[in-house]
This record gives sequence, structure tokens and C-alpha cells, in this order.
Amino acid sequence: MGRRHRTGIGPEPGANPGATPDDILAAVTTRIAVLASGAGTNAEALLGAASRGELGDAEVVLLVSDRDGCGALAAARRAGVEALFVDPAAPGVAGDRDAYGRVLVAALAQRQVDLVCLAGFMRILSPGFITAYESRVLNIHPALLPAFPGAHAVADALAWGVKITGTTVHFADEAVDHGPIVAQACVPVLEGDDEAALHGRIKAVEHRLYPEAIRLVIEGRTATVGRRVLVTAAPGPEVVHR
Ligand code: GRF
Repeated sequence: MGRRHRTGIGPEPGANPGATPDDILAAVTTRIAVLASGAGTNAEALLGAASRGELGDAEVVLLVSDRDGCGALAAARRAGVEALFVDPAAPGVAGDRDAYGRVLVAALAQRQVDLVCLAGFMRILSPGFITAYESRVLNIHPALLPAFPGAHAVADALAWGVKITGTTVHFADEAVDHGPIVAQACVPVLEGDDEAALHGRIKAVEHRLYPEAIRLVIEGRTATVGRRVLVTAAPGPEVVHR
């Protein structure tokens, strides 16, 4: 019998006594939405990890972008995952972060999304969005936070002359690149580095770290205490009592 784990995020299985086996299976699947604006290499890595079962029972059900035609949308389509462009310049949301946030939340709620993974989403989320998905929004940032937050992290690290930088996966809160840290990994800065070369090596590390961190969260193996995210050991094999 295959081992099944309870996800840390989805609805509690068995909550509905009339549930069919399909309902129960659906209830233990964490539904992930990836939000991205750019090339989409992290989105692609998450889609690949999910399709190989490396995110446990989680499924990427949606990719949302604020940039039409970006690589992330194309990656989702290639993977057969719904790719949704939400136009930030549309009437009713243009220049209104709260209104745009409400449109995003509605799109995610409609698809019963449990966990939001930001992967290069170049837009600050509204407080309403963060509240709606409290403790269920992860972000990846190309530096060792709290060093070098913001949109130019790789260039800022190079300009500062650090010898080691890296990447951080953290829960998102209302401040930019600020929430509790789930995982970090180092990347050395090399003598000949420019921004593109360094960012390329950081991304290669991100593609491994982000799926690992997401898996910890969906397996319910993280507990946030203040700013610290404590990680518990991997669950053992399922024990069947007869
Ligand atoms: C990544 O380096 C990520 O850390 C940052 O934005 C970049 C996105 O790259 N938030 P890609 O679009 O996934 O290639």
C-alpha cells in the first residue's frame, strides 16, 4: 500500500462523513497556485517537481501572471496547467492594489487554491490578499534575507561586494521580502561574475530549494514561532493497526 500523508494545508479529510473515495482523495491534495511575472524558470521547476510527485500529494492547478506573454505562462501551458493572465491595467483595478488583490483572491478561491507560491511575481500583494491567504503564501527571493531585499537583490549583492549570497524561501507577509524564513541556501560570488551569471547560478539552486521548502510546508512539517520556522523530522511510514 502506498504511503499517504496528511497535507499541512488542505482541508481535513473525513470532515465530510458522506464523502466518496474521490472526495477524500481530493481533500488530501494541496492545490497550489504559482504567481509569476518573468521567465518562469522557477515556475517550470515547480511544475516539473509536482509532475514527478516531488511535492507529495500537491498539485499545481493554476499559474497566474500580471504580464501577458511571459515565459511563466508559456511554461504552465506546456505542462497542461491553467495559465491565467490577470491584467493589472484593466478597468476597475488599474492603480488600485486592493482591487487587484481582490481579483486575484477571487480567481484563487474559485479554483480552491490552498497554497500560493510566488515565483518572481513582481507586484506587491495587497493586505487583503495576505489576510485571505495568511500563512499560505510562500515567496522565493534571490539573496540571503534580510540582506538585499527588493527587486535588485542580485545587483545589490554584487555591488556590495559580498563573497557569499544565495536564496531564501519565506512566508510572505505585508512587508516586502520580510516574512518568516523556511529555507535558505548559499551561492558563492565568483571573481568574474556579472549579474546575469550570478543570478543564473542562484536560480539553479532555487530550482532545487523551492520544491523542498514547499514540500515541508504541505506535509505540515513547519511550525512558525515568532519569526522562526521550526522544521520537524520527516514522517515515518504509515502504521496500520488491525
Ligand atoms: C528568481 O530569482 C526569484 O528568486 C525572484 O525572481 C526570480 C524569478 O526568476 N523572486 P524566474 O522567472 O523564475 O526565472
